[in-house]
Amino acid sequence: MASFQNPPLDIRRLSQKLLVMLSVGIVCMYLFYIFAACCKSEVTKNSDLSYDRSVSVTGWYHERNGTALRDASPSGGSAALALEANSSGKDWTASRRFPHALIIGVKKGGTRALLEFLRLHPDVRALGSEPHFFDRHYARGLSWYRSMMPKALDGQIVMEKTPRYFVTPETPARVRAMSQDIKLIVVVRDPITRAISDYTQIVSKTPGVPSFESLAFKNGTAGSVDALWSPLHIGLYARHLERWLAHFPPAQIHFVHGERLVHDPAGEMGRVQDFLGLQRIVTDKHFYFNKTKGFPCLKKPEGSSKPHCLGKTKGRLHVRVQPEAVRKLREFYYPHNLRFYQMAGMDFGWQ
Ligand code: A3P
Repeated sequence: MASFQNPPLDIRRLSQKLLVMLSVGIVCMYLFYIFAACCKSEVTKNSDLSYDRSVSVTGWYHERNGTALRDASPSGGSAALALEANSSGKDWTASRRFPHALIIGVKKGGTRALLEFLRLHPDVRALGSEPHFFDRHYARGLSWYRSMMPKALDGQIVMEKTPRYFVTPETPARVRAMSQDIKLIVVVRDPITRAISDYTQIVSKTPGVPSFESLAFKNGTAGSVDALWSPLHIGLYARHLERWLAHFPPAQIHFVHGERLVHDPAGEMGRVQDFLGLQRIVTDKHFYFNKTKGFPCLKKPEGSSKPHCLGKTKGRLHVRVQPEAVRKLREFYYPHNLRFYQMAGMDFGWQ
């Protein structure tokens, strides 16, 4: 008989156990639900905050995205933007995008220094080498160009520098075909010093080239200036700028004063960061003057904790040029410089 009464007793115990487990399960699920709801509202709150903080990382980031936003300070911009992108359902992993800004010139103006200084900024992602896309490799197509760019988060500014863009006639239209609202930066320097710097580089690569004077003038210093000689032609800034202004409004072009970039790098960098809509993060704290080199160097360049100066080919001694040649070149450039000051809306003081 006992063997007939035991099974119902076991079944009762079993069902009691099941009931207890079920109740515990329901309580756990309920607690989990409450916890999850809490977290979600916390994330949304954080995202809203970061959205505000990210605003001035780049003014046109928001214009491009058609979002009306207030102006605000972007401390910790990129991280904040990563959160913002997440809350809006966008992919917040870094991706390769077309540049938002280009350093288009000029060769020997100080373009490498500018790029290296900008790379200190956490909201700038810049290609280290010169891609020469719009002047030499245009046939490779835009997807090739994009594949060259460093990966960037939403809101980070992607940049590259190719100084030859400024003087290549077909470049402005090509750049505009890619982007109408791209920002353009030109580092300019006294065209005579720039030409001598350019020639010094030519001599260093090709020893035995004729003298500066014999290349700059058609009949030695007594003859007329050979404005087609590349080191002199590049210095006709007004002519090159004219072509860019046919495709871009002046507000989209910023001029960096090459001489001031050497004497007051923090001041010039402040203006560049304003132009790019970046918080002024690169300041005088980042620079020190290296007496041996005679140029400002970086206290802590990108990805390093050691001070760093630009390489030997930047800031080197120039070839000596006859004072008479310099005087004639000063005369030659005078009207071009004045026209350039007018177009740029700024007196660079080279005359
Ligand atoms: P020089 O070597 O003739 O002095 P780019 O990078 O466009 O080729 O320009 C090179 C020039 O950048 C150098 O020309 C130098 O004058 C200038 N320059 C500006 N800031 C510099 C810096 N911090 N260190 C070295 N060169 C700098």
